Amino acid sequence: MDSLQFPESFAWGAATAAYQIEGGWDTDGKGRNIWDTFTHQGGDRVFKNQTGDVACGSYTLWEEDLKCIKQLGLTHYRFSLSWSRLLPDGTTGFINQKGVDYYNKLIDALLTMNVTPLVTLYHFDMPQAIEDQGGWTSEKTVEVFEKYAHFCYSTFGDRVKLWITINEPYVFSKLSYEQGLLAPGKGEPGVGAYQSGHNMLKAHAKAWHTYNTFFKEKQKGLVSIALDSDWAEPLDPNSVDDKEACERYLTFRLHWFAKPIFIDGDYPAVMKSEISRKSKAEGLTTSRLPEFTDDEKSMIKGTADFFCLNYYTTRKVIPLKQRGPSYDSDMGAEGIKDPEWPESGVEWLAVVPWGLRKLLAYIKDTFGDPNIYITENGFAQSDPPILQDTHRWGYFQETLVEVLKAINQDGVKVKGYFAWSLLDNFEWNSGYSIRFGLFHVDFNQPNLPRTPYFSAIQYAKVVKGNELISK
Ligand code: NOJ
Repeated sequence: MDSLQFPESFAWGAATAAYQIEGGWDTDGKGRNIWDTFTHQGGDRVFKNQTGDVACGSYTLWEEDLKCIKQLGLTHYRFSLSWSRLLPDGTTGFINQKGVDYYNKLIDALLTMNVTPLVTLYHFDMPQAIEDQGGWTSEKTVEVFEKYAHFCYSTFGDRVKLWITINEPYVFSKLSYEQGLLAPGKGEPGVGAYQSGHNMLKAHAKAWHTYNTFFKEKQKGLVSIALDSDWAEPLDPNSVDDKEACERYLTFRLHWFAKPIFIDGDYPAVMKSEISRKSKAEGLTTSRLPEFTDDEKSMIKGTADFFCLNYYTTRKVIPLKQRGPSYDSDMGAEGIKDPEWPESGVEWLAVVPWGLRKLLAYIKDTFGDPNIYITENGFAQSDPPILQDTHRWGYFQETLVEVLKAINQDGVKVKGYFAWSLLDNFEWNSGYSIRFGLFHVDFNQPNLPRTPYFSAIQYAKVVKGNELISK
């Protein structure tokens, strides 16, 4: 039997996000956020107009979640704070003590179980009151977020030592403010995503500096941002056009945020030149991609203490010729799935474990060989799911083999792996129709029982032995 050992102190985790699991949308003084508004408006933007009003009920059933965590034997648990549960209108003008109590209970219980919390400040759930002022498209949100971050560090930072400021700025900026698919559902193609990304980068950097200046010495924690990316390869490796399109694909997706933060405080040259050239051709006097001042560049550069990567899939890339202002036409590239790749229960998620290894090596070589935590990776089942999900566990295993190769053969400093997700939960526009959980949740029963999938039982063995048994 081959034994594939992970490095000592490897972090084994699972991840969730507040809106996707908590429910209790208006309980105990929680303020409204953009998902409350968006889902309550209906309009078939979410599968069967489902909402996160109840979700997994984790606001009251958090001890059930802890049992799942214990059953898996996790060393780490990644969850997010609901901003509007803590600060109902998003500002520190009023603090909702019951929200503070909730997260205190959760954090304390995790620590008692010897589980390290990795806490995300923002996972897609902007307080409605801040959205009403423009949300991420408004410069004002930068300061509001900085204050929120300060509040969280001072309230929980005596116990929380690992922080993520913002989850997936690419996904949120593009799907919300470009395409209008995610809440708040207001897209402005070719403009909104860049404005949002710009303010997110500044807000992240300020939040990092706030920690570094006021908390780091005493609390001794680390702060980062969770970036998602596909791995990408040219469809035809011999085609110059495909190769260039592929470079643009990774640039617009990963470098957009990673280059300013990990390299030099500024956007990739190709984004600046392409968007500016196209903006001019559209008759605009300035580029649709905002610019950073020199002070902002030095403020943004170097604001991550480790690299958080969310990886799900890979694409083959070809050039895209599209007219009209939009992120996609600026990028001029299109990612397609290889029909040979197995699909999971959701159309966009082709299963490509080797893509993760390549992406990890690429990040090592491109962004200064950082410590990397894989803060999300997973495979969905469609509904109804099967508990004996052996195929899914196969995908996890193959992926973990690739992580080991990245560590042992490519020298990538991968420090941890977080499965998405601990529980089946509210998958944004897909509602409850696809299931990413290690634990099944029966949403038809009022007590929302959690039951381990086969994958959970197997994952627990890996965590316990800190090794993958390949046969
Ligand atoms: C990334 C997001 O962070 C998470 O909220 C989502 O559920 C998973 N991907 C799966 O799509």
